[in-house]
This record gives sequence, structure tokens and C-alpha cells, in this order.
Amino acid sequence: MEIQRNCSLKEYNTFGIDVAAHLLVKYGSVDELLSFMTQYHSEMNHLPLLHIGGGSNLLFLSDYPGVILFSEINDINVLSEDGDSVLVSVGAGVTHDDFVQYAIQHGWYGLENLSLIPGQVGSSAVQNIGAYGVEAGDMIKSVQTISLEDGTGRVWNHNELYYSYRHSIFKDETYRGKYAISYVVFQLKKHFTPCLNYGGLKSSLQQKQISEETLTASQLRDVIIETRENKLPDPKVTGNAGSFFMNPIVSVDVLHQIQEHYPNAPFYEVDAEHVKVPAGWLIEQSGWKGKALGPAAVHDKQALVLVNKGGATGKDILALCQAVQQSVSEKFGIRLSPEVNFIGEV
Ligand code: FAD
Ligand code: EPU
Repeated sequence: MEIQRNCSLKEYNTFGIDVAAHLLVKYGSVDELLSFMTQYHSEMNHLPLLHIGGGSNLLFLSDYPGVILFSEINDINVLSEDGDSVLVSVGAGVTHDDFVQYAIQHGWYGLENLSLIPGQVGSSAVQNIGAYGVEAGDMIKSVQTISLEDGTGRVWNHNELYYSYRHSIFKDETYRGKYAISYVVFQLKKHFTPCLNYGGLKSSLQQKQISEETLTASQLRDVIIETRENKLPDPKVTGNAGSFFMNPIVSVDVLHQIQEHYPNAPFYEVDAEHVKVPAGWLIEQSGWKGKALGPAAVHDKQALVLVNKGGATGKDILALCQAVQQSVSEKFGIRLSPEVNFIGEV
């Protein structure tokens, strides 16, 4: 276990916001976490507590006056396997993309489309990360947690996790911030069945003259990585948290109103009455793509991404977020909801 006092969090959030935490606690096992929690409850339970992962979906608005927990549980264990699938338990502190690569190398399939998404495996189960038509929750069989209130362990089965678009039970008001995820159990396939339905993937393969019949998981991973690198800024170079907003789900009536002015407006069908409209498109139509407000800006290749041009505070990013929300609301009557988790006081 490693405990740092008055620790800068600049390296712990991909926006690169320079704030400090009263205490940063890194633990490498469930036992270490439990021993710290005993100390916390007896000596410092007046302090707020926050579990973070790679900080790739956080926006710190101020210094954090409490304890930040960071998992370094890094073991990967096969629980069972048969000819069709494998059940594998992955420590919450494993880097998600390292696990995607590890799985492909071991002939375990299903996560390829989630290649290069930043962050840890523990958070992938909180966030239900998604890309190119696949969501982590599709493959998560169960999640192990430790209660941050009383240290009890619990296993949550898939049907108790309530996965939906960028949502899990751990985001609900009642459960938010109350558990440390220790392990995530994935069920992965032993036969590679590519998911290529998401716009653009098939044409990318054609351009590279890769046939769908001979496509391997590692080739698909490479295509996804290249596509993402072309659109999304690298947080090591330019601070960002990926999509700042979720894509709004609106009624078909709202879509029809948009189509009166924009017949080619993009959308994805959700069900018979609802569609998802790309927030990046709404933001671009509202004139914000590539525009800056102080040291915060809307990325010039993907308007859904807000970036730190250098030296921005959380409040600078928040000001841009609010200005974008206002423009989109005035133009389209749609309120964009942030995907990013705001931490601290406004
Ligand atoms: P953090 O941002 O540190 O935390 C996220 C949440 O999880 C917080 O609520 C935190 O309290 C909680 N948490 C973290 N670890 C634990 C734990 N062990 N126990 C309990 N709670 C915990 N997301 C997508 O879905 N799809 C994408 O395609 C995508 N692309 C991105 C591209 C870029 C360039 C960036 C910067 C981000 C992108 N994201 C994407 C967003 C982000 O990577 C995901 O939300 C990711 O899951 C966050 O992981 P993290 O470890 O950084 O978590
Ligand atoms: N678009 C624009 N202008 C832009 C950006 C997008 O017009 O500046 C339109 C285009 O029509 C494009 C469509 O929006 O075809 C969709 O864009 P893209 O394929 O880039 O995907 P997205 O809907 O913007 C979502 C996820 C991403 C995920 C990609 C790929 C959300 C909030 N975002 O983005 O996730 O990687 O699909 O599946 O659902 C994240 O969550 O951080 C993230 C990056």
C-alpha cells in the first residue's frame, strides 16, 4: 500500500487538471484495501472518499479535500473454460486495453471493438464502456465489490448490474461511490465472430483490402485503433476525457422536426419510438467545432470531445460545457447530458 499526502492529481486525470488530493491511497490487494478502510473508519471518516481509475472520465472542479482510492489489483485468473468460452476474472486495476490485447493473444474474443479505450477494467464495469456497436456489459458475467461503508464483499451477477448505454447500477444515486470494484469476471468466446455493423468499419476493411472472411481479431483491433487515433486526441498530448456528452436519445417526433431543416441528419435507431442523435453532429451544427472558450476548446476533428489547450482549470472546461449545452438547446431544443463525472465544487 502506498499513501501520499497533498498529492497532485495532474497525472491521475486525462484532462490534466492540476488539483491536489488530501490523501491518495494505492492498494494492491483486497486485504490492503480492507486494512486501509479499518484505519479510515476509525480515524478519518469525516473525510470524503472517492475511488478513481485512470481518471479518463473525470473532471476535477477543485482540490479534493478527502481520500482518493486507486486500485493496483492486477491479477488475471481463468475460472473455467470449455470449447466455446472462457470465464476470466480480471483485477480492477488492470489497464482495460492491456486486457483487450491479452485476451486476443490468448484466443478469447468479444472485446476487440473496445480496443484503445483508456482506463481500468474496474471502471469499464462502472461505465459500461462502449464503441463500434459493442458494450463491456455484453461480456461481463459478474462483478466483485467491497463495500466502502462496512468492508463486506459482494458478487453482483450480470442481471443485477442493469447495464444500458453508458450506465450500470454503480451509477445509480443509491449505489454511486459506495463500493470498490475488486474483480470483474468476463465471459469471452473461443470463436472469433466479428461485429462489423457499426458505420464505417466495413468500408475501412475494404479500403485496406482485408476480406471479412479472413479477418482476424488482431486485424480488427488494428483497424479500430487506427480509426480512433485519426479522430480522438491522445490524452498524453492534449488533455481530454473522450466524449464529453452522451449521445441524446430522443423521440422519433423530435428527429422528424430536425429532419425538416436537416434532411440528412445522422441517427441510430434505438427502438420503434426512439433514436440516438450523435451529439457531435448537434455540436458541430451549433457552430462549436474547433472553437475555444479561454483555454478550453471543442476538438476540431470530433466535436463531442472537449480539450484542455493547456493550463485549463476544471471550471474553464465546465464553462465551455455549459456554453455548448446552451447553444445546442437553443438550436435544437435538446439538453445534452455530460458523460464525464464532475468531482468537486462549482
Ligand atoms: P475514471 O475516469 O477514473 O472513473 C470513472 C468512474 O468509475 C468514476 O465514477 C469512478 O469513481 C469509478 N471507478 C473507477 N474505478 C473504480 C473501482 N475500482 N471501484 C469502484 N468505482 C470505480 N468511453 C467509452 O465508453 N467509449 C469510448 O470509446 C471511449 N473513448 C475514450 C477516448 C478517450 C481519448 C478518453 C480520454 C476517454 C474515452 N472514454 C470512452 C471514456 C473513459 O475511457 C471510460 O469512461 C473509462 O471506463 C474510464 O476509466 P477510468 O479507469 O479512467 O475511470
Ligand atoms: N459527427 C459530426 N461531427 C463531429 C462528430 C461526429 O457530424 O464532429 C457525426 C457524424 O455523422 C458521425 C456521427 O456523428 O458519423 C458519429 O460519430 P462517431 O462515429 O465519431 O461516434 P460518436 O457517436 O461521436 C460514439 C461514442 C464514442 C465511441 C464512438 C465509436 C458516445 C457518447 N460516444 O461517439 O465513445 O468511441 O461512438 O463507437 O456514445 C466516449 O464515450 O468517450 C467515446 C469516445
